Amino acid sequence: MTTDTLTASLPYLDPALPIPERVADLLGRMTLEEKIGQMLQLDARDDLDDHVLRRHAGSILHTSPERIVRANALTAQTRLQIPLLVGEDCIHGHSFWPGATIYPTQLGMAASWDPALVERVARATAIEVAATGVHWTFSPVICIARDLRWGRIGETFGEDPFLLGELASAMVRGYQGDGLDDPTAILATAKHFAGYSETQGGRDASEADISRRKLRSWFLPPFERVAREGCRSFMLGYQTMDGVPITTNDWLLSDVLRGEWGYTGTLITDWDNVGRMVWEQRVQPDYAHASAAAVRAGNDVIMNTPGFFEGALDAVARGLLEDDAFDVPVGRILTLKFELGLFEDRRLPAEGLEQIVGSDEHADLNLEITRRSIVLLENDGLLPLRPEAGRRVAVVGPLADDAQNQLGDWAGGSGQAGWLDGQPREMITTVLDGLREIAPWEVTFSRGADILTLTPDPAGATFPDGQPRPPIVKPCAPDEALIAEAVAAAAGADVVIAVVGDRIELVGEGRSTATLELIGGQIALLDAVIATGKPVIVVLLASKPLVLPASASRAAAVVWAANPGMQGGRALAEILTGAVEPSGRLPISFARHVGQQPTYYNQIRGQHGDRYADLTQAPAWAFGEGLSYTTVEYADLSLEQTALDQTDTIVGHVTVTNTGDRHVRETVQVYVRDAVTSVSWTDKELKAYRQVELAPGESARVRLEVPVAECTIVDADGIRLVEPGMFELLVGPSSRDEVLLASEFTVS
Ligand code: NOJ
Repeated sequence: MTTDTLTASLPYLDPALPIPERVADLLGRMTLEEKIGQMLQLDARDDLDDHVLRRHAGSILHTSPERIVRANALTAQTRLQIPLLVGEDCIHGHSFWPGATIYPTQLGMAASWDPALVERVARATAIEVAATGVHWTFSPVICIARDLRWGRIGETFGEDPFLLGELASAMVRGYQGDGLDDPTAILATAKHFAGYSETQGGRDASEADISRRKLRSWFLPPFERVAREGCRSFMLGYQTMDGVPITTNDWLLSDVLRGEWGYTGTLITDWDNVGRMVWEQRVQPDYAHASAAAVRAGNDVIMNTPGFFEGALDAVARGLLEDDAFDVPVGRILTLKFELGLFEDRRLPAEGLEQIVGSDEHADLNLEITRRSIVLLENDGLLPLRPEAGRRVAVVGPLADDAQNQLGDWAGGSGQAGWLDGQPREMITTVLDGLREIAPWEVTFSRGADILTLTPDPAGATFPDGQPRPPIVKPCAPDEALIAEAVAAAAGADVVIAVVGDRIELVGEGRSTATLELIGGQIALLDAVIATGKPVIVVLLASKPLVLPASASRAAAVVWAANPGMQGGRALAEILTGAVEPSGRLPISFARHVGQQPTYYNQIRGQHGDRYADLTQAPAWAFGEGLSYTTVEYADLSLEQTALDQTDTIVGHVTVTNTGDRHVRETVQVYVRDAVTSVSWTDKELKAYRQVELAPGESARVRLEVPVAECTIVDADGIRLVEPGMFELLVGPSSRDEVLLASEFTVS
């Protein structure tokens, strides 16, 4: 059959037929080569003709605006004209689309603790993405942040499984909208399934030393939650666990995901997972065996292993796979394409998409979430800085006016997309821009330090799979002239705002860091400006929690903004001047020293003592912390019932009072401590929270609810259950024991 003979009379092209019938008809017409190719998702930056016409690829990723159109035109030349599924990492906005709205990173959004707001961001992102011919986002990231050295901490929602489950499901709802036939809906992806973040020493994609019980305890629950939410695809991690690459982990993929959870969505490997089993992990002798193993394990879409095409054909020829082995995965992929309506409308870049992408409405939403993403960590009372005229403000630091770095990873300037060299400068407000716009101040700027230079890795410019190898980072030495200039500016100012942090070269895949300190000349810069005795506000623009130098304890204030996106500078200026109240709360703990890793709050009970000989184990700032410009008191925690059974709900009430003179949005946090457990368990876990707004002097009696069924542990056999006995409900403004009120209850 040629394309000329392809008519709408073929059953699979008939939209009136039920989807299973269309799938069966199309599958019946496909050759072995076409089925294998349908499972491939290939890099649109490579040879598109080869991908579509020779390898019959069913999907592409990383495509420029022009290449979406070109790739779709190529499918018109194919025998069956099966539309492409186009995927992209639209993680905090439509990352690689010129002029798209770029929001704070996931870690930044997590500091809002606001699922409804995060859902609105995902919805707005989907509207931009869907208009451009992309159907599938590889978001949200559901990895639990553990070792802060890992380069991908900023892509996560932080360290707590409950909070990240709340936010991830909100994001899935936002992306998928009212269902796939909604033209603004895109497929969501829960990634990276599962345990990828439990790295050794923070080394990206290294073997995760993690038991099935630990997976069930903390790593799997948020995935299970989004699976039940209807998240249409899951992406695997890169790592091995107990020797088994995730791509062939039968227990996880078949027994747990497909079996226990009954998940019917689509599984996509991560980048070249199939090839990595051959060239990196060396657990498969060749591509035929690796491809056969990946298919047998139930993977549907094979991301960027072009050799899967030949490998799978070879596997069939050598009897490693039956030739009907591809029907189930291909059936699943085709079902998605039918459900999205792609056979009727390929959803190519829409007319008038300039009005949709980067719209003013989305900029407003971006500003709203950015305000909520910023966390005030320290304040000696200097903040808020009133915007009265004449104040002399010295802005110093290499990140104060660095628009592209402010956006972080997975954005225009982060290197994954060669067709754009950053997002339009005029869409981005840097901290310097924000401060200059917000007040009639005399603002000076001096860079004060350089951060790093790059040198090529002697091991070669690419990895064995052809991917670029990150260059080696060389921290810059402090530059005396730059420091002197910043010190002079500080000396002539009333207040100094020092903007320091990390750069894109220290963030992301394969870019874990051995240290957490500020790199390059930044420590010397901070030391020098703080030594002037002028009040210094440290603005930490960092993808992940970093360790601040000792001099920062003499700063007047410390504020953290985790890659705050395009509106970052405006939102920071609003918070510093008090136009907006700071309300972000840490979704992740900050270490005092890299050697304290890991510092997450919900660690397992039991060790000798609770400190190192030479340092406390307490974090610098703990999960849940964040200041307001007012003070808040918690009192009178009471429970409606203290003897409960497993079907009950614990209902507590606490009085929260705004004791200061400014408005507050307070995040009332509820943790549960199980007094005695049959196996070791964490000392406390977040189970609920409520955000309340209080005017100065206002008090509220806040009702808190936790179903007893949530007070579970995972026992030695891997079974999740509530163990009867004594518990405590802990309520307060952060995870620190010192600030939590406690009330006991028993479960029978
Ligand atoms: C590899 C990353 O691990 C994954 O998160 C991403 O979605 C894919 N590459 C595609 O860019």
